[in-house]
Amino acid sequence: MMPPEQESTTITGGNTTTTSPIANVYVHAEPPGSPNNVNVVPCLEDPIPHHQQQHQTHLRSPVVRESLHPITLKFEDVAYGIISSQGGTRGSCFASAQEPKLTRTVLNGVSGVVRPGELLAMLGPSGSGKTTLLTALAGRLPGKVSGTITYNGGPFSSSMKRKTGFVSQDDVLYPHLTVLETLTYAALLRLRKELTKAEKVEQAELIIQELGLTRCRNSIVGGPLLRGVSGGERKRVSIGQEMLVNPSLLLLDEPTSGLDSTTAQRIVNTLRGLARGGRTVIATIHQPSSRLYRMFDKVVVLSEGYSIYSGRADRVMEYFGSIGYMPGFNFMNPADFLLDLANGITHDVRQDDQLEFHGRVDHHDDQNSTKQHLISCYKKNLYPALKAEIHQDSLHSSLSASTTPSKRNFDVQWTTTWWEQFKVLLRRGLQERKHESYSGLRIFQVMSVSILSGLLWWHSDTSHIQDQVGLLFFFSIFWGFFPLFNAIFAFPQELPMLIKERSSGMYRLSSYYFARIAGDLPMELVLPTIFVTVTYWMGGLKPSLVTFVLTLLITLFNVLVSQGIGLALGAILMDVKQATTLASVTMLVFLLAGGYYILHVPPFIAWLKYISFSHYCYKLLVEVQYSAYEAYECGIGMHCRVVDFPAIKFLGLGNKWWDLCALAIMLVGYRLLAYVALRMGTPH
Ligand SMILES: Nc1ncnc2c1ncn2[C@@H]1O[C@H](COP(=O)(O)OP(=O)(O)OP(=O)(O)O)[C@@H](O)[C@H]1O
Ligand SMILES: [Mg+2]
Repeated sequence: MMPPEQESTTITGGNTTTTSPIANVYVHAEPPGSPNNVNVVPCLEDPIPHHQQQHQTHLRSPVVRESLHPITLKFEDVAYGIISSQGGTRGSCFASAQEPKLTRTVLNGVSGVVRPGELLAMLGPSGSGKTTLLTALAGRLPGKVSGTITYNGGPFSSSMKRKTGFVSQDDVLYPHLTVLETLTYAALLRLRKELTKAEKVEQAELIIQELGLTRCRNSIVGGPLLRGVSGGERKRVSIGQEMLVNPSLLLLDEPTSGLDSTTAQRIVNTLRGLARGGRTVIATIHQPSSRLYRMFDKVVVLSEGYSIYSGRADRVMEYFGSIGYMPGFNFMNPADFLLDLANGITHDVRQDDQLEFHGRVDHHDDQNSTKQHLISCYKKNLYPALKAEIHQDSLHSSLSASTTPSKRNFDVQWTTTWWEQFKVLLRRGLQERKHESYSGLRIFQVMSVSILSGLLWWHSDTSHIQDQVGLLFFFSIFWGFFPLFNAIFAFPQELPMLIKERSSGMYRLSSYYFARIAGDLPMELVLPTIFVTVTYWMGGLKPSLVTFVLTLLITLFNVLVSQGIGLALGAILMDVKQATTLASVTMLVFLLAGGYYILHVPPFIAWLKYISFSHYCYKLLVEVQYSAYEAYECGIGMHCRVVDFPAIKFLGLGNKWWDLCALAIMLVGYRLLAYVALRMGTPH
């Protein structure tokens, strides 16, 4: 293994202007046979066919042309606390917390500088605040973070959002899409509109090769409940999604966790290559090997939210040696040494013996005092110089940030058009949900209910008008409940994905929303069509094609309205349990107020029927089924007018257009409500 300095010369020589993830990695690839080649070959276990290798030269070109905006990230005295109350915890401003008893410090006075071309690693024990700091640096932490975080001297902006890649600790991916589909959709949504579709797809292919995913490119990604690619491969897909956009600032939370050391090495090598191309790369890493550690340019070591070191990675041993902390033995992995220190464990022989003897370190006080000592040493020895470095060229950064206003305005625009986003999201949604929408279970459910009700109402005729009216009411209620409960799940289930993708400025909320609604339509409309067709003719309703078509259209209208209520409840509450509870109460009220069960409703509560969409649907169904002068057999040899039948008389037929209007208002109103709730509940 070469020393870091030597390795860096094999990479790019520090060119910080026009490179890309892919460009970088290939630029620094050495000729076959070079001893260092092992670190940069895309995939050891996935040999690339010769014809593909030839094709790559052509594939690489589009990304190479993309320009880069180097970002210097500075953070000073970053502090964050969470409020612990009876109900739980939530993010808040640590500095402004009024009751110290209720706040728990997660980060306290963490500072650092990362420049373009540098790879910064955050180390620290579990729970030390790495993820929190990384999320704060990515501008995604809820609540207020105190301290200052600047990007080229300015605050986090929407243009910065699109230049930032963020790979979270937990992979948020669609389980039913394949690796190739996942990356292709990301490319189509995130790459600039100047690139053609073919070029975007080629970028996805390149990322697959680069991250060694060729072997599993056509396997589904999977998730906790669905077996798909391995955890390490899934993590690489998440990284690939961010690498695609050629981010200037790349933040990764534990990109190597769960990977074998060779793959971890390859990933970190790629990250280092990305950094060398002028990007700013920050990663939290658990247990890096000494080989990995040598690839870091800078490290921040956290201990219970406090910084104990922030600076160059190769100076760590020197610094801790200068304040009296030495590793227990020579050739110790610096990362192990740092993690021990962050836990307050120092390597003297006495303590090691104790560890062996008792199986645990019994010196909590010692550990705490070691941590306190390390924190105070950091404040005394490192912080002043760091602070000076942060302020040293902040004037220059803010000047350069303010000299490019036109560029900023340009960057704020979306990478693709509304229509393009809509098309891609619609296709992706259909592909992801086809298993769920067209599941045999759902079809069986609807078919069995339709055949059963067809048999129960088998060839009913107008002499049993009560039964026929009951069937029409059943249409309105069944197709009120069913779509509503399906729609409730839509947004709460997709929230993590929506937050992730909206946080990186991938698409407009409106294009996502319309794509989601349009994607759900085919199945939502096909099932009721089958149901009505089967039950209508089996049930012996009016044998007229016009009446049948009108009955079908009214039922479909009802489906759309009830779907809107489900979407709105899901989007407002964002909790499936709460939403289903509220939905069942609402539907019960609508069912009772629908006008079928109770005819003599007390006036003070009679208004309920006007907000019940089932009432309007039921009324319309009765109106199209029976004409005003139609008669039914109300006794032996006796005929009465249908409109005089008590249940129908109570409905008060004759306001078709008003009923339609009410349904149309509900159709638009509930969807609008869902959209507003979604907009307020997700990042802008
Ligand atoms: N929203 C929250 N609610 C409750 N606790 C929180 C929240 N956010 C952070 N914490 C707490 O803050 C501390 C730091 O969390 P963080 O996820 O940053 O740790 P970490 O260093 O990334 O740990 P790991 O290595 O295990 O991922 C933890 O003790 C965690 O329990
Ligand atoms: Mg973490």
